[in-house]
Parts: sequence; C-alpha cells; structure tokens
Amino acid sequence: MTETEIVDRVQCLVRERMAGQQAGHDVDHVLRVLKSAREIQAEVGGNRFVVELAALLHDLGDAKFHDGHERSAEFARDILSQLNVDYDTIEHVARIVDTISFRKAADPATLSLEAKVVQDADRLDALGAIGIVRTIEYGAAIGQPFYLSDNAAGKRKTGIDHFDEKLFKLHDLLNTDAARRIAGQREQFMRTFLDQFRHECGETK
Ligand code: ADP
Ligand code: NI
Repeated sequence: MTETEIVDRVQCLVRERMAGQQAGHDVDHVLRVLKSAREIQAEVGGNRFVVELAALLHDLGDAKFHDGHERSAEFARDILSQLNVDYDTIEHVARIVDTISFRKAADPATLSLEAKVVQDADRLDALGAIGIVRTIEYGAAIGQPFYLSDNAAGKRKTGIDHFDEKLFKLHDLLNTDAARRIAGQREQFMRTFLDQFRHECGETK
C-alpha cells in the first residue's frame, strides 16, 4: 500500500470506530484536525505521513469514552501494525497521540515538529465558529448555562466564562506561526460574537 492508501484506510477505520460518538469529539472533529494539520504542515514542514496518521488517530481512544483510560496510543499501534506501517513511524505516531490526548501539558521543548503541528491543529478546533458551537454543546451536555444575566459574582460557571478561562489563552500556547495566524482570525470572530451576544442581552459596554 502507498502512504496515501494507508491514510485513506485509517480514515475509514476511524470513521467506523467513532460513529455515534458525541458531538465535540466526533469524527468531524478529527477530520477538521486533519485538514488544519495538513495546512500547518505544508507551511512548517515535518513528515506529512506521520502528521496525517497522528491527526486521524489522536482521539480514537479518548479517556472520556474508555472508563477514564486513555487508549489512543494502543489503538494506533494496533491499527498501524496491521497495515504494515514501519516500526519507527508507528512509535512516533503513538508517542504524538499519547502526548496530545493526555493534555498533560508536555514541555513544548520535548515535542517533535510533527507533534507540535497536530497539537496546534487540535487546539485550533476549540476556536472560531466551531469553537463557539463546541462550547455550547459541551455546556448543554453537562447542564451548564451558556449565559446568566445575574451572575455578577460569577457564582455559577457559564459557557461564557470558558472563553476567558481557556479559549483566549490558547493563542499563546500554540507552537507554530502558521497556527497563530489562523487562531488570531478565529479569536477575532469569537470576540465579535461575544460583543454582539452581550449587546443583544442589553449589556452596556
Ligand atoms: P479536548 O478537545 O482538548 O479533548 P475537551 O474535551 O476538554 O477538550 O473539550 C471539548 C470541547 O468542549 C472544546 O471545544 C472545549 O473548548 C469545550 N469545553 C471544555 N470544557 C468546557 C467547559 N467547562 N465549558 C464549556 N466548554 C468546554
Ligand atoms: Ni481532539
């Protein structure tokens, strides 16, 4: 099999395995991460095959769906060895998938270029129009309100709080200029959305 055929095959497998997974971490998230990862890789370089495989496999064994156990690296090894991918590529992909999925804030200095690309692509998916929708969906799933008019003391966490607590911090955590540029544009859109939202709620600014 050529590398392109392997990537296509892995994409089909991931699609099957993630079917029915909840919004936010469904196969569309994975396909968007693949798309962004390709764009970033085209600009910063690195091994495209490794980037594509890691992007596709990064959420396959998300701990949220496996009793708290992160199994993406294990699944990546299984799938890639069955497709006769070479050992070094398999281990590199497994290492990337492990670092990204654990969200263990690995020291950027220890990450390979390919890991940095996939990590940036994953973070970009929390921003922009998609990021807004994912925040709303996440809140809906855990019964968290998106906005409370009478929340001056910030007693109850809202979806709106999540923008400052996490989303607007992502830009500075990115590894590549290519991703920072995309993030800047997406962040701008989110600020416009929040301004409009608050305006419609009658908040003066
Ligand atoms: P990851 O994609 O890194 O695994 P999560 O599973 O924590 O991240 O989040 C999935 C999506 O839900 C992201 O878009 C994230 O911004 C959003 N999200 C995470 N935590 C919250 C929260 N407390 N309130 C609203 N949205 C959240
Ligand atoms: Ni992800």
